[in-house]
Amino acid sequence: MAMPLPLPASLLPAWFASAPHGPQALLSWLQALGSWALALGQGLLAAMQRNGPPPLPVWLLWFGVLVLAMQLPGLIPRTGQQLARLRELASRLWRLLLALVRELLWVDPTLRRARHQRWRPVDEEDSPLGRSLRQVLLDLIALPLDWVASLGPQRLLRPDPATEEKEQRRLRSSAALLPRLRWAWERHVTLYLGLSVLRLVQPRLWLPGALWRRFVHADSYPGFPIRGMLWLTRNADVRDVLERPETFEVIYGPRMQEVSQPLDPPGGEEVPGDPSEEGNFLLGMQDTPRYWRDISNMRLAFRREDAALCRQLSERAAESTLQRLISSQGQSGPLRLDLPVQLVVPALEALVGAYFGIPLPLRCGGRSGSDPAPGSDPGEDEVDVQHLWLEDVFDYLFYDLKGESSRPRALHAAPRVRTALQRLIRSRRQAMENDPAAREADDVLSRCLRLQRSGTPGMDDETLRINLTGFLVGAMTPLINATCQVMDVLLERPRALALAQAAARDPDPDQTHVRLRACVMEALRFSPGDPVIYRWTCRDSWVGEGSRRRAIPRGTLVMAWNASAMFDPALVSAPWAFRTDRPAGAYLHWGHGQHSCAGAYINMAVIPAILAPLLRRGRLRRAEGSAGRMHKPGITVRHFELLLLPIGRERTQP
Ligand code: HEM
Repeated sequence: MAMPLPLPASLLPAWFASAPHGPQALLSWLQALGSWALALGQGLLAAMQRNGPPPLPVWLLWFGVLVLAMQLPGLIPRTGQQLARLRELASRLWRLLLALVRELLWVDPTLRRARHQRWRPVDEEDSPLGRSLRQVLLDLIALPLDWVASLGPQRLLRPDPATEEKEQRRLRSSAALLPRLRWAWERHVTLYLGLSVLRLVQPRLWLPGALWRRFVHADSYPGFPIRGMLWLTRNADVRDVLERPETFEVIYGPRMQEVSQPLDPPGGEEVPGDPSEEGNFLLGMQDTPRYWRDISNMRLAFRREDAALCRQLSERAAESTLQRLISSQGQSGPLRLDLPVQLVVPALEALVGAYFGIPLPLRCGGRSGSDPAPGSDPGEDEVDVQHLWLEDVFDYLFYDLKGESSRPRALHAAPRVRTALQRLIRSRRQAMENDPAAREADDVLSRCLRLQRSGTPGMDDETLRINLTGFLVGAMTPLINATCQVMDVLLERPRALALAQAAARDPDPDQTHVRLRACVMEALRFSPGDPVIYRWTCRDSWVGEGSRRRAIPRGTLVMAWNASAMFDPALVSAPWAFRTDRPAGAYLHWGHGQHSCAGAYINMAVIPAILAPLLRRGRLRRAEGSAGRMHKPGITVRHFELLLLPIGRERTQP
């Protein structure tokens, strides 16, 4: 007979012992547990005395039970997280199913409207109620026919609408069933769905050689031979890698040096650290003195306290652009707006012009400035109207791991960017010497030139040009994409859109900004600007702690999926939900650790500021057909058409 364990309450802390129910209940629970364990031990001893020691399988069984019991405290939260991951995956699949069913059952509303127009009631004497009832009845009878017509069988054999000319896409009011189903499929069966599966079943995925060589050649990055690829999808692993720059190195350096080759020979200035860093930019540098010198310099020019200024500049530009559009499109019906072309790019150009001090689009005339690299001499006065030079350089530096297709374009664009910025730096310095007004200017370029004048190390023309190139290239393409993606996510989720519109209409501008920023950060979680950050393992190492530690051999290209980490229930609660009350630490949009985005404060100010005038103006929806979806032929969103019904125009809607 087992005796209860002596667990005197006097041994417990006073606060615990005096709590009303908890301590007593816990005490008796512990006593019971102790009694069972004692009884079990005594029973086991008695059995052994009677029958001799148990056979090996029984010992093993007991050992297994013991190990399981020891794992239990860690296992329970882990199981909870696994269940949350499962639910997150299920919610994605559910959304996919809903989207497919919605497209299947969709009935084109224009058919009903056209019928109403055709069959206007002849009998004017008829009461309005009678007329409405007749129309409803007619609509119900015609519904199956409308549905069949909406499938668009006559359009099934036409070319893919996504590849049609823009004008054709504009004219089409709706697409046939197959393309619509394909859009729904492509929208939901994405890389993010794959990451969701990996997070659940295989959070550390070693890619077999044949597979990773599809993404990257072993020698894509000179000096960083790649011998394998590892995908990390959970928060702890992603952060672990980004927090250890001494082991997980950035590999952008060689390509950065290639595109930013100096125009002038390096100055006589003593450069701390490795001279092989010449021509390199922050994101291509390891944890070296030169990195810290350059980032400190640039932080003196790009200041956190400029966030409010960036916000004002971009909101003012977006507001006036929108106002012009509304006036140019007349007073009736919804306003049709190509988001990147007609709102985002003009607002960013205004921001970069006023804040960076770099007028966009870039222009270069190779013969009047310094000559670019031999063989790629740009012509006279070329203008980068669509900011393609910046996009091409960005593509080669950060997107195209193999670098094969983007390299020729980047090498065509780079000398033009070099020349344009070189000329700008020289002409601005001259202006500052001669013109008192230019001397007073407080944009980033003027600040840099003032630092140069004061003899700050690392502010020579060449280093300045390279740093400005990095900031400019790093700003334009991601900001265009991220702003459009936020709108795309909002349009996909009516409740999120309503939240954002309510935030945009808050009478207090500061509150508007705070609330809208929360919506933007959350929307970006569903469609991040930069979904993955990659690093090269410079020595044999590991990831994770304790029993979860895994070895990583030297030469591994580690893909740290920040997009996936932001859906890890270990980091965010209810990851499937759109919530605007998440703490700042729930987001990894701007990277993590040494190389986190130097423009984070700009992004968080500018994206809400560009969208605010649009969101507060009226009802928003996508344009019909493929025009209303983001059109991204390369790495930048080129077109994305929206319909805006400004407040007060609802009555005139066709
Ligand atoms: C929505 C837009 C943007 C996104 C999503 C974004 C994202 C990122 C990410 C993820 C990193 C870290 C990369 C890594 O660790 O490998 C980064 C670094 C960086 N970003 Fe951004 N960025 C954006 C806009 C900007 C803007 C507007 C600027 C300039 C004003 C900028 C300048 C930089 C710089 C200079 C770095 C390198 C910092 C360093 O190495 O210390 N970014 N960005």
